Amino acid sequence: MLIVLRKPASSPEQIDQVVFYEKPFLKFERLLETYLAFAPRGFRSFALSMPAWIKDKLFQKSVLTKALSNALGKTIDWQSRLLFSQHHLSHAASAFYPSPFERAAVLTLDGVGEWTTSSLAVGQGRRLKILKEIHFPHSLGLLYSAFTYYTGFKVNSGEYKVMGLAPYGKPRYADLITEHLVDVADDGSFQLDMRYFDYATGLTMTTKHFHQLFGGPPRPPEAEISQREMDLAASVQKVTEDIVLKLARSIRSQTGEKNLCLAGGVALNCVANGLLARENLFDNIWVQPAAGDAGGALGAALAVWHLHLDGQRPKLALSDRMQGSYLGPAFSDEDASTALNTCGGIFTRYSESELLTHVTTALSAGKAIGWMQGRMEFGPRALGNRP
Ligand SMILES: [Fe+2]
Repeated sequence: MLIVLRKPASSPEQIDQVVFYEKPFLKFERLLETYLAFAPRGFRSFALSMPAWIKDKLFQKSVLTKALSNALGKTIDWQSRLLFSQHHLSHAASAFYPSPFERAAVLTLDGVGEWTTSSLAVGQGRRLKILKEIHFPHSLGLLYSAFTYYTGFKVNSGEYKVMGLAPYGKPRYADLITEHLVDVADDGSFQLDMRYFDYATGLTMTTKHFHQLFGGPPRPPEAEISQREMDLAASVQKVTEDIVLKLARSIRSQTGEKNLCLAGGVALNCVANGLLARENLFDNIWVQPAAGDAGGALGAALAVWHLHLDGQRPKLALSDRMQGSYLGPAFSDEDASTALNTCGGIFTRYSESELLTHVTTALSAGKAIGWMQGRMEFGPRALGNRP
């Protein structure tokens, strides 16, 4: 949730709008329709998820209104100021509006929002128009998450480990994936064969057909990682990269746009983004650093400002409107020294050349380094200030 202000506010009365980054009723509709489509399969998952929906999520408006009243004042009519943006519109807005481009094609790819799992939009000035969508259960994010689960990592957080594991493997299952799991059209649009996936109705990501196809059950979490998991990671990474490239190619020819903006959880796949940049399909690419749902609040606020309130975009900066995403707190040497002294750590001040010598020597000896400089970054990928 993000608060939108027309001018800097000194009191809660001056808050114009409050916006939530997705529409709970549409999401609930998707859950109900999916359960009905697959019934009686999935009853257990349905029965487990309903209490939370009925208690809180379905009544998000009253939950949020109550939270705002408690936090910022009971005399203000929060309900009339509360708006809801659609999940993929929030992602698209978070990708286009902070970018340095006057116009651009915008691609969002993630697990799932309400119904949409991928969208293509075109942004121009303060306008942003969604042109195409791919809907649940067909999802590139959930395909990647299925392999995250199958290789023994935590879904919705361990995807970066699969991406990191991929270079150690060979994509020897990639053909199996495209022959059985996902049907990819020439324009990059795709459909999953739901016999292999359990996420629409079940409590896991993959079915026994999936396990048979890849020759065994999922790796138990914390079990030893074998070459097989590395090859599986390389394979799903390769398929993801191929789909992203196909989509980008068709977007370039469909829209004629020279700039591309990306957001959604799949846009955190920086290996695929790097490949996309090296293909030179677009003159410029800008990726929202908080491309996952953390950036949804930012996008929802920008969508309200530009689309709902007709707010102008400020003069375009040379880089971006997120200051490289260095938006968090910074800490001085004194702060670091005080914190380290308190917990018994050692603080030593080095010159830059001494520091670089220490760090490179330690790295080449196989040691791990934590690096902290400047402001903390908004988004889960290390951009230089917190590697
Ligand atoms: Fe998302």
